Amino acid sequence: MGSGIAQVCIQSGYKVILCDTEIKSLKKAKAGIAWSLEKLHQKGRIKEPPASVLERLETAQGFETGLETDPKISWVIEAVVEDESLKKKILAMVEDRVEKEIKIATNTSSIPVSRLALSLKHPERFMGLHFFGPVPLMGLVEVVRGKMTSEAVFAQGMAFVKNLGKYPVKVTKDIPGFVMNRVFAAAFRECQELVANGITTPRDIDTGMRLGYGWTAGPFEIADNAGLDTIVRIGKSMKSLGESYLYSDTGLVEKMVEKGNLGRKSGQGFYPYGTESGKTSK
Ligand SMILES: NC(=O)c1ccc[n+]([C@@H]2O[C@H](COP(=O)([O-])OP(=O)(O)OC[C@H]3O[C@@H](n4cnc5c(N)ncnc54)[C@H](O)[C@@H]3O)[C@@H](O)[C@H]2O)c1
Repeated sequence: MGSGIAQVCIQSGYKVILCDTEIKSLKKAKAGIAWSLEKLHQKGRIKEPPASVLERLETAQGFETGLETDPKISWVIEAVVEDESLKKKILAMVEDRVEKEIKIATNTSSIPVSRLALSLKHPERFMGLHFFGPVPLMGLVEVVRGKMTSEAVFAQGMAFVKNLGKYPVKVTKDIPGFVMNRVFAAAFRECQELVANGITTPRDIDTGMRLGYGWTAGPFEIADNAGLDTIVRIGKSMKSLGESYLYSDTGLVEKMVEKGNLGRKSGQGFYPYGTESGKTSK
């Protein structure tokens, strides 16, 4: 998600410093962004030459290095794994290193922004910007207002999302999973029950949702694209936040993750994926 968010920002003219603890992830992200920009350029969806767009991207190992590189940043967007204590630790560390007027956002899928805000000294400059993946292709961002987010920062978040060419869905009541993930989680919970109980297959559900309900991708394809490890983390987070009915206890996805089948990013999920220029594709 971090690399997708970085990509749409550089496409819209922002300079970005993409930070990760893993050099391997940074290299993969940069290669993936270059590949995607090339594809979008070939299709005429971006006019600027990919090499020139890519010049706006820097990478840095760790937040410390990234934030020291340019103290004049306007937004910090956190997109580490869905783990409340890790996110709180990172957010507190970020806040200590940036000026008070810099806005901080989280891309969490499930944790109420107001809970994460407890780690900050200035929670009024903090909000949720919940992007959907693959970020360069999806037009939606949920813009989440925490209990302490200021009116001005929320408005700037809405404007920022519009600047990126995305549709901002306002979430003014900060509940676990916000809006879209609650709807998806409810559907996907039932899908997992149906498959685990031998009633049908992922392929039939996906085909059925495309043909019968006009979805452009089925729920299992969406899960493969999101990353099955991420799906498990989000599900467990929802459960721990008291939303058990949005979580399936079948263990269907957990067992796949245990075997290393993480979806598109590992080459195998509910479907197999081949490789193309360093990116996996179905
Ligand atoms: N996958 C999706 O479709 C999707 C959609 C919307 C929101 N999200 C949310 O975005 C966030 C990231 O999800 P993802 O699927 O991209 O996960 P991911 O596992 O693909 O990526 C997480 C990245 O965080 C890095 N990381 C871990 N610990 C770190 C640390 N201490 N400092 C810096 N970087 C660190 C990892 O190296 C990795 O590159 C989660 O909060 C998730 O819920 C995911």
